[in-house]
Amino acid sequence: MAVKTIEWKNDRVIMLDQRLLPHREIYRSYRDYNQVAEAIRSMVIRGAPAIGVAAAMGVALGALHAPDRSFDREFERMVAVLGKTRPTAVNLFWALERMRVVYASQRSKGLATVRRGLKAAALEIFKEDIAANKMIGRYGVPLLRDAKRIMTHCNAGALATAGYGTALGVLRALKEAGRQFEVYVNETRPFLQGARLTAWELKQEKIPATLVTDNMVGYLMQQGRIDAVVVGCDRVAANGDVANKIGTYTVAVLAKRHAIPFYVAGPTSSIDIDCPAGKDIPIEQRDGKEVSHIFGKALAPKGMKVFNPAFDVTDHELVTAIITERGVINPPYRQKIRSHVSH
Ligand code: MRU
Repeated sequence: MAVKTIEWKNDRVIMLDQRLLPHREIYRSYRDYNQVAEAIRSMVIRGAPAIGVAAAMGVALGALHAPDRSFDREFERMVAVLGKTRPTAVNLFWALERMRVVYASQRSKGLATVRRGLKAAALEIFKEDIAANKMIGRYGVPLLRDAKRIMTHCNAGALATAGYGTALGVLRALKEAGRQFEVYVNETRPFLQGARLTAWELKQEKIPATLVTDNMVGYLMQQGRIDAVVVGCDRVAANGDVANKIGTYTVAVLAKRHAIPFYVAGPTSSIDIDCPAGKDIPIEQRDGKEVSHIFGKALAPKGMKVFNPAFDVTDHELVTAIITERGVINPPYRQKIRSHVSH
C-alpha cells in the first residue's frame, strides 16, 4: 500500500500526521491512549473508518499499559475518553463496541488473555477495513464504468481508512479495471481535505485530477462537465440519509438538479441501524479558527463570529445508490438497508 495511514508497530501506534500533508510526511508514534484520543480530536488522523481503527488501537494500547489492580476502571475510562473525540463518524462507536465485546467475553480468562484479545481485535479491525474497501471498489466499478469525469468531495481515500479507501477505493478499482477517467476534486473548505489529501493521493496514483473550489460545483455541472459523483460517509441512518463532510449536501442537490448520479461508498460499519434518520445524527461543531484562519493566518477580521459544522446530512432521496463491501444498496433504502446489514 503506497500510503500508510496508521500502523501497529512494536506495541506503539504510528500515524501519518495528516495536518501537515501534502507538504510534509511526518509519522507520529503513540504509546498512550490519551495521545491517540488527542490525535483523533486534532485530526492527525481523520476519516470515519480510520477513526474507528485508531480508537480500537487506542484501547489495545491502553490495555497494555493499564495497571492490573485498576484494569477494569481504566478500561471504562479509555472507552469514555476515546468515545468523546468526534461525535459524527459512527465507526468510532462501532469499533469501541467491538472492543468492549472482546473485553467482556475474555475478562474471566485473566488480564493477559484480555490484553492479547484486544490487540488481536484492533489488528483484525484494521485488516477487515482494507478488505472491505477493496470489495467496495469492486462493487463500485460497474456503476461508474462509463463515467469519464467523476467528482468527489473531501477525502475518502487510503488516508481516511486503514488503506485503499472507499470513494477513492472505487476510483482505484476503476483504474485497475483499465478505465480512462478524470476526477474533479472539491477543495473541501474549511479543512481542505480535498486540496491537501485527495489531490495528494490521486497524484501518487497517477489518476488525472483537477482541483476546484467548492463553489465551482454548480457551474461545472451546468456545463455538463461531470458524469457522476462518488463520496464517502461518516454515518448512514436506517432510512438511507447520509452524514458526510460539510458541503456534500450541496453537491448532492446540484447533482439531482442536473440528473447526475450521486453514489455513496462506505463499509457497513458506517451504517447506524439504530439511528432512524439523518436528523438524529449528531453533527460535530469544530473550532471557528478552522474557518477564520488558514495555516495559522487570519483571513477574517479579529473577533468575527464563525459557524463551523464539520458535516451535513444528504437526504436519501438524493442518493442514487450506496456501495458497501457486501454489494450495492438501491432505493428504497429503509427495507434494503435493514436486510443488507442483518445478513
Ligand atoms: O472531518 P473528516 O476529515 O474526518 O471527515 C471525513 C469525511 O467526511 C469522509 O468523507 C468520511 O469520513 C468517509 S472516509 C472513508
